[in-house]
Amino acid sequence: MSAVSKDKKRITTHVLKEMKENGEKISMLTAYDYSMAMILDEAGIDVLLVGDSASNVMAGHETTLPITLDQMIYHASSVVRGVKKALVVVDLPFGSYQSNPDKALESAVRIMKESGAHAVKLEGGEEVAESIIRILGAGIPVMGHLGLIPQSIYKFGTYTVRAKGAEEARKLKKDAKLLEKLGCFGIVLEKIPAKLGKAVTQQIGIPTIGIGGGRHTDGQVLVTHDLLGITKEFNPRFLRRYMNLFSGIKKAVGLYIKDVKSNDFPSTEEQY
Ligand code: KIV
Repeated sequence: MSAVSKDKKRITTHVLKEMKENGEKISMLTAYDYSMAMILDEAGIDVLLVGDSASNVMAGHETTLPITLDQMIYHASSVVRGVKKALVVVDLPFGSYQSNPDKALESAVRIMKESGAHAVKLEGGEEVAESIIRILGAGIPVMGHLGLIPQSIYKFGTYTVRAKGAEEARKLKKDAKLLEKLGCFGIVLEKIPAKLGKAVTQQIGIPTIGIGGGRHTDGQVLVTHDLLGITKEFNPRFLRRYMNLFSGIKKAVGLYIKDVKSNDFPSTEEQY
């Protein structure tokens, strides 16, 4: 309770709603570990997402499907320990909520109890409505995720832009309104036309956070490893890289190896 009610600086779901109402953009990034979470929090990020993209960037899987609830809880609890201000949202992993509201509630409760995070995120609209209702009924804030939903990659067959056609766009708008009506506090809109991102953002009262959703959404999210250039093969149009850490780290490690091999490191000053 005290973290929510006493610390005025802490970002809550209510603060995000106010930000939308005031036209202040929301910044969100992924985090999977304590050290990175601490840096991003100190930099002033509004929301940290413990994304199931950990399956890709931390574990090296091709998709987000293999990551387990236990693994998500491990990542989330590490992130929570590094954060003083940001809202920490955790992805419910594939298989932990779909088509089974009891299981969805159980998974969300485990995340909240065992990690200390502030909210959960799940993918889909009408199909997962019952699960959302159950989780919200337990007082757990829920964020939705529409458009490209990577947990359904084998259904879509491709990672290309979603909802370009009228029918899929109509369903996405309907799902966004439903998520708002159910009580979700925000929605991630992934890889959809900017025009649709704008329309959805205008039609609902809860914040939209885009990743490839155009410049009109209420906020933006990126995978931190992509922004920092730790990953290098992934180059979608929506990605802006702010660093090239892959080559920076490689260069630093190369120098370290050279110094070790040449016995330059440690020097007499660097020993006891
Ligand atoms: O898992 C993740 O990182 C995500 C973002 C891409 C929104 O869901």
